Amino acid sequence: MKYLISLAISLFLLISASAFSNEPEAEDTRISLDLTKSEKVLFLTEMRQMLVSIQGILQGIGEDDRALIIKSAQYSGNRMARATPESIKKKTPSEFKELGGPTHMMFEELVIRAEDDDLESLTLLTSEILKNCVACHSQFKAD
Ligand code: HEC
Repeated sequence: MKYLISLAISLFLLISASAFSNEPEAEDTRISLDLTKSEKVLFLTEMRQMLVSIQGILQGIGEDDRALIIKSAQYSGNRMARATPESIKKKTPSEFKELGGPTHMMFEELVIRAEDDDLESLTLLTSEILKNCVACHSQFKAD
C-alpha cells in the first residue's frame, strides 16, 4: 500500500512537472542589427520619439490642431534621419534602409500636407506610416 501511494505521488509529480514545462518553444526569427549597448540606447530613443510623434499627430487630427500635427511630424522627419549616428547607419542592411528612409520622408510629407489637406487624408497617411513601423518591426531586432 505504502509503495502504491508513493508511486501515485511520483506519477502525479511527474505529470504536473511536465505540464509546467509544456510551454511552447518561442523562437525569435527577426534579423539582428547587432547594435552595441550604447547604439541601442540611441536607436530605441529615436523609436520612442517616433511613437510620441504618432501620438501628437493623432491628437492634432482629432482636435483639428494643424500646428500640433506639423510639430509632431517634424521630430521624426529628416531631422531624425540626419541625427542617426553613422555607426548605426553602417550596420543596417538595405532592407532596413528601404523601410527606414521612406518612413522619415513620409513624416516630412505629412508636415507639408498638414497645412491644408483634409484631416481624413492625413489620417490615411498616418496609417501608411504605421504600416512601415509594423513591416520593419516584424523583420528586425536591435540585438
Ligand atoms: C526600418 C525599421 C523600423 C521602422 C521603420 C520603425 N522601427 Fe521601431 N523599432 C525597430 C527595431 C529594430 C526595434 C527594436 C526591436 C527589438 O529589438 O525588439 C524598434 C523598436 C521600437 C520601439 C520600442 C522602443 C523601446 O524603448 O524598446 C518603439 C516604441 C518603436 N520601435 C516605434 C516605432 C514607430 C512608432 C515607428 C513608425 C513611425 C517605427 N518604430 C518604425 C525598427 C523600426
